[in-house]
Amino acid sequence: MEFWASQEFDQHEQVGLFSDPSSSLRAIIAIHSTALGPAVGGTRFKAYSSDAAALDDALRLSRAMSYKSALAGLPAGGGKAVIIGDPTKIKSRDLLLAYGRFVDRLGGLFMTGEDVGTDLVDVETIAEVTKHVGGTSSAVGDPSVHTAAGVIHGLHAVAERRFGRTDLAGLTVGVQGLGAVGWDVARRLHEAGAKLVVSDIAAERVAAAVAAFAAVPEPTEMIHRAKLDIFTPCALGGIITEQSAAEIQAAAVAGAANNQLATSRAGKILAERDILFAPDYLINAGGIISGLHAASVPSRLAADENDSLGAKLLKIRHRLTEIFEQAAQNGLPPEVAAEDLARSLIKR
Ligand code: NAI
Repeated sequence: MEFWASQEFDQHEQVGLFSDPSSSLRAIIAIHSTALGPAVGGTRFKAYSSDAAALDDALRLSRAMSYKSALAGLPAGGGKAVIIGDPTKIKSRDLLLAYGRFVDRLGGLFMTGEDVGTDLVDVETIAEVTKHVGGTSSAVGDPSVHTAAGVIHGLHAVAERRFGRTDLAGLTVGVQGLGAVGWDVARRLHEAGAKLVVSDIAAERVAAAVAAFAAVPEPTEMIHRAKLDIFTPCALGGIITEQSAAEIQAAAVAGAANNQLATSRAGKILAERDILFAPDYLINAGGIISGLHAASVPSRLAADENDSLGAKLLKIRHRLTEIFEQAAQNGLPPEVAAEDLARSLIKR
């Protein structure tokens, strides 16, 4: 495997390989940047097609975490861990404890939590041998409600920029995915007076939203084409493809789902069609903001130290407004302006 040749390598500060043969643990921890604070990032547990694919994932996701932390104004950097293997086959208490001891050895440079393939129970096991975890259920509870609150702040920034209004009442918003985050986003939108169009592969969730919020149901493969003011993806990543970007009828795309843009070209198509895109790793930062707030990670900025969680979540709205302005001034898609701003914040 050619370490330095990975296209995802971005002058990461530290990348470590960890193994514990007795529990079959093989893990990679990538620390992209600690310039703004400890590198935070979840632990992904996945059967990768190759070790190179696992390394690429750790490198790419840790860089994205640096951008997310920087844009959310968090006193944190970016990192990510991947444990290689099928969690349904090899996950064990011994493996998680061995992994936790490796996290501990990094002495606080890396702070982790749940991700694909790991859950709060696993994080609590890891926390038995290291204090460098956030997001245990006792510390923070379910982050989804805070993610949803952040998405609503982001939707306000979108409504202001796109429709010149400070409230969401009367806007038609299409929520794709009525899970932990999407349901709460829909509930808050309903309370704010928005009209809802919803889709989910789980028919009972759609029926519940129709009953609770007078939502209009749409088939899952159609919702991005519906007549909406804002399309709010809260299900899967990669749903804005070059094809779907060309089909979207909404004036803006802003939702919680991670990695919405399947390709950078898809983002450019949205921009060319004058559809405002809210970079996902900023608008969905409420969960990590709440995790670090609960873990009382000390702020580098004295002015921020006493901010309530609510005040920290509100920063999502202000940061998005700033990014929309910079994107417009420089003729860039918002996701490119966001990346530029994140890199300059980290450098500073
Ligand atoms: P979840 O698993 O609770 O909900 C996902 C929902 O999407 C489910 O109701 C599922 O049935 C539905 N769904 C799946 N495929 C679909 C499709 N093709 N069309 C319509 N609906 C579909 O997940 P959660 O926690 O609500 O997260 C949603 C998204 O937000 C994910 O992309 C996640 O990575 C992202 N996110 C979540 C955070 C959190 O705090 N939970 C934080 C940051 C990002």
